[in-house]
Amino acid sequence: MADAALLLEWYDRHRRVLPWRDGAAGDPYRIWLSEVMLQQTTVAAVGPRYDRFLRRFPGVAALAAAPWEEVAAEWAGLGYYARARNLHAAAKALAAGGFPRTAEGLRALPGIGPYTAAAVAAIAFGEAVVPVDGNVERVVARLHAIATPLPRARAAIARHAAAFMAQPAARARPGDFAQALFDLGATVCTPRRPACALCPWRGPCAAQAQGIQDALPVKPAKAAAPVVHGAHFALLDAQGRLALERRPESGLLGGMPGLPGTPWRAAPWPDAEALAHAPAPAAWTRVPGEARHLFTHRDLRMALWRAEGPCPPGLEAVPLAEAAAILPGAMRRLLELLHEAAPPRRISPKRTEEAP
Ligand code: ADE
Repeated sequence: MADAALLLEWYDRHRRVLPWRDGAAGDPYRIWLSEVMLQQTTVAAVGPRYDRFLRRFPGVAALAAAPWEEVAAEWAGLGYYARARNLHAAAKALAAGGFPRTAEGLRALPGIGPYTAAAVAAIAFGEAVVPVDGNVERVVARLHAIATPLPRARAAIARHAAAFMAQPAARARPGDFAQALFDLGATVCTPRRPACALCPWRGPCAAQAQGIQDALPVKPAKAAAPVVHGAHFALLDAQGRLALERRPESGLLGGMPGLPGTPWRAAPWPDAEALAHAPAPAAWTRVPGEARHLFTHRDLRMALWRAEGPCPPGLEAVPLAEAAAILPGAMRRLLELLHEAAPPRRISPKRTEEAP
């Protein structure tokens, strides 16, 4: 059996220094925020954004009181924007009712699934649960040489993971045990070329004994993301400000700012059909090329049109130089295309603001 005490000993010597670890000790808000950011985003990318987010929204009350636009702007570029909407909604619920202290209670909050609930409960409140993320899945699948493909293997993996809590060493430090599993998966039991020679669980690892660690866990065959097409409009006013819309709440990039445009669909947009979606009548010209953005489940290709004209009602005029900071990645691809086609100098804002 894999000895929890051995893993914890390894963790005490090799744990990664991460911004949400020592500083956040016992603060459920900080731990929750780190877990939400770390879903789908790498530790390296989260680090600086985590600190910045906390400076802007230092606690549940500050986040709950903030308008959505500010939260969206702070999340820009991190992707998976439904996470930010759920975070904001959950903060409003928490500001009224306080933090539930169990995984079961946490599950009731918007956007908190079994993984996040278990991670916050274990790390912030010391509940004897084991959160199962991709790292833990890989460690456990290898330890027990589980050759069933994902996602079918998940039930068996969850059972084995929960069984760790039968060991007193794991029960004594559930938060550290969870993070030890994360670190082992991230630094030793890596997806490719795991460093088995450095692994505290080399002895009990069934995959290593059989030499099949590289093949586990078995992933399901991945279908290519379907291609979708859109056409978007860069309308610049005389001050070089770009007209931006707020995207509808539901769907991809829901609630985020964007360049106005057509819906996204499987068929490309012929020019005349695309132009029917222009935000205002103007002398629209097609920018050569297309912008591309790969979401997990969609391969988005966007045509870009540009024109000069006043920002129509219902849209917001944002200085071009500031737009990149608030736009999601997919929309930034359009700005890059625009800059490639026309050097930014020509369309940079004339400074009309008063000096500071
Ligand atoms: N991945 C998800 N949560 C983590 C944490 N608390 N530490 C390191 N990696 C993680």
